[in-house]
Amino acid sequence: MTGGAGYIGSHTVRALREAGRSVVAYDSLELGTAAAVGDAPLIVGDIADRDLVERTCREHDVSAIVHFAAYKNVGESMQSPTKYFDNNVAGTVRLLDGAVAAGVGQFVFSSSCSVYGTPAVVPVDETQPIDPESVYAETKATVERVLRWYDVVHGIRSISLRYFNAAGASFDSRIGEDWTFALNLIPVAIRALLTGDRELQVFGDDYPTPDGTCVRDYIHVDDLAAAHIAAIDHLASGGTTTAVNLGTGVGSSILEVLDAIEAVAGSPVPHRIVPRREGDPVATFSDTTRSTDLLGWRAQYGLKEIVETAYRWHQSQLDAPQPD
Ligand SMILES: NC(=O)c1ccc[n+]([C@@H]2O[C@H](COP(=O)([O-])OP(=O)(O)OC[C@H]3O[C@@H](n4cnc5c(N)ncnc54)[C@H](O)[C@@H]3O)[C@@H](O)[C@H]2O)c1
Repeated sequence: MTGGAGYIGSHTVRALREAGRSVVAYDSLELGTAAAVGDAPLIVGDIADRDLVERTCREHDVSAIVHFAAYKNVGESMQSPTKYFDNNVAGTVRLLDGAVAAGVGQFVFSSSCSVYGTPAVVPVDETQPIDPESVYAETKATVERVLRWYDVVHGIRSISLRYFNAAGASFDSRIGEDWTFALNLIPVAIRALLTGDRELQVFGDDYPTPDGTCVRDYIHVDDLAAAHIAAIDHLASGGTTTAVNLGTGVGSSILEVLDAIEAVAGSPVPHRIVPRREGDPVATFSDTTRSTDLLGWRAQYGLKEIVETAYRWHQSQLDAPQPD
């Protein structure tokens, strides 16, 4: 599991181990922590290190790779495209070559709903055009195409999972998202509420939505973890290369999310409405037909659980003793 020490990776490592599966995490620890992996085996290395990938796959008898490792900051990708094409695309090609050399035949890839750009129709299904609007999204769309060719040429079967907005934390507050790096609404809003060190900016309240703010599909990280197990099982039982959306099918506006946070916290999220940000789709949420039909998977949790678990996790981090 590349990126196993990161946010979604660590929840998936845990879910797989709880399901009795054998897992090895593989992470450079650039943006993740060893603690997040718990007591699962961890190889510290780069996905671009083809030989280490091959050796790891052989030594651990790997049957399937789940590939989370990537950079994910959309804004940064527009400042430093080389960094993103290098790590997310070239790095993935090296990883795939290591996998091919070791005879690994199944691959689950962390793609993103951003491959659709601004969708013409919502809910978005997988037949809608791929039209990335950032370098980051382009790296995801490119890897999806690379994967189709690695199937044709090398016979690696893959599922590209197009996540909507991952959010929430483990229900026991043991792992969650590190808000040091997070740019997503929920951690940024909770940080504004708990620390008061930064006001949340809401980009635009004049969109054609019921309350004027953008609408997104927030999916609990434990639901994502469960979907990865379903994807691995689908490939193991002969599933062919494809892409699948992972969302709840429910859109929530920014103000609805802030209301949900305020209901849990009992105090307001300090925020300010600022002008629209270029490139933000007005509304995007997932059509869930393919994920249900193909993977037999459906999200179990909604905004309430997402906000409750995220709030508990961030609160526990503030309460934890800080390193010197
Ligand atoms: N978080 C979201 O809402 C979201 C939405 C859509 C897609 N995704 C994708 O899901 C994946 C996981 O996202 P996340 O939120 O857990 O991110 P994250 O930053 O928490 O985790 C990524 C992990 O990958 C590791 N990593 C990065 N480059 C590496 C390399 N070259 N070699 C080895 N390890 C490397 C980092 O150290 C980190 O632990 C990413 O591919 C991201 O693009 C995330």
